[in-house]
Amino acid sequence: MCNDRQNSKGLFDAAVIRSGAVGMRNWRVALELEGEAAAAFAGARPGQFLEIDASGLSLPRRDLIPPELRDAAQRHVILRRPLSFWDVYEMDNGNTCVELLFCLVGPSTLRLATLRKGDIVNICGPLGNGFSMPEGKTHAVVVGGGIGIPPIYHFTSWLGKNRDDVRVTAIVGARRLKDFPLESMQHKKKTAIEFALAGAETLVATNDGSRGFKGFVTGCLEEWLSKTEVKKEDICVFGCGPEPMLAALAKTCRVNGLDCYVSLERLMGCGVGLCQSCAVEKRDKSDGHKYLLCCKDGPVFNSEDIVI
Ligand SMILES: Cc1cc2nc3c(=O)[nH]c(=O)nc-3n(C[C@H](O)[C@H](O)[C@H](O)COP(=O)(O)OP(=O)(O)OC[C@H]3O[C@@H](n4cnc5c(N)ncnc54)[C@H](O)[C@@H]3O)c2cc1C
Ligand code: FES
Repeated sequence: MCNDRQNSKGLFDAAVIRSGAVGMRNWRVALELEGEAAAAFAGARPGQFLEIDASGLSLPRRDLIPPELRDAAQRHVILRRPLSFWDVYEMDNGNTCVELLFCLVGPSTLRLATLRKGDIVNICGPLGNGFSMPEGKTHAVVVGGGIGIPPIYHFTSWLGKNRDDVRVTAIVGARRLKDFPLESMQHKKKTAIEFALAGAETLVATNDGSRGFKGFVTGCLEEWLSKTEVKKEDICVFGCGPEPMLAALAKTCRVNGLDCYVSLERLMGCGVGLCQSCAVEKRDKSDGHKYLLCCKDGPVFNSEDIVI
């Protein structure tokens, strides 16, 4: 459903058509968009995001809130929150479906987990630049850590549907099996079936070794690089996850001479380039500018262009 045309953005109401838990701490919501909203999001690229307004929603019942989040949950929600897309597709009725997958970490995400079929929620988007495969590259290595996995899945699935000239190797990691925001891992499957079904060679890494490679996704990437026959000049690496993971990924790629793009999940205020709260330091400041904005210039950056 994604295409390469520049999409227009806007503020839209969206109707919830599905909502449900993925394991203990993650939630998946499917939104139906019609009219102008459907057209705007029909062109949404993997790696772009929306800003969602949870300010009018109630909290879940107290006993359903994880004990360590009960105090934080009480904070008022003023700002919208950025979320990437798990999937974007055209529905049978011609409307656009946008699927979100998020981790319950604070007042907004807890409120979003109370959304039920038929509820209306306000969104702003699609925002940011998104992933794209550079000219001449034929092998994408997509690396997702924890809650960085949704946009990485969306890109994998988009490449599978739209680029039969590109092969994909997916490396997904989490601390433990139960921390993956993936149904397959919650059901203790051998691999991340979602990625395999999207056509990717799929590798899983867990810090505790409960599934796949024991260690970080970067260790898994190094092992794959030591065995693969794919030429380095054909490979482009894409990552999303916690910033220490992205810094390690950038370093691994630099050492191995691989192109690398990272999607940063910075704290955001406005999401549209006004408040400057999402500044990312540039590596080359020769043009007199020290910072880029994650929401407007990113969230996807060439890892050599920024300081992480
Ligand atoms: C471009 C972009 C895309 C994102 N996509 C997703 C997604 O698909 N799924 C998902 O679960 N999350 C995603 N996030 C992160 C998500 O926006 C935050 O988890 C969310 O704002 C938390 O809101 P909250 O009110 O529930 O908790 P808050 O109270 O806002 O945050 C709870 C805790 O998490 C920390 N936190 C909040 N935002 C971030 C962040 N961006 N990075 C690191 N720590 C943070 C806070 O410091 C705080 O300690 C994305 C962020 C960005 C910038
Ligand atoms: S979030 Fe306001 S400028 Fe980026």
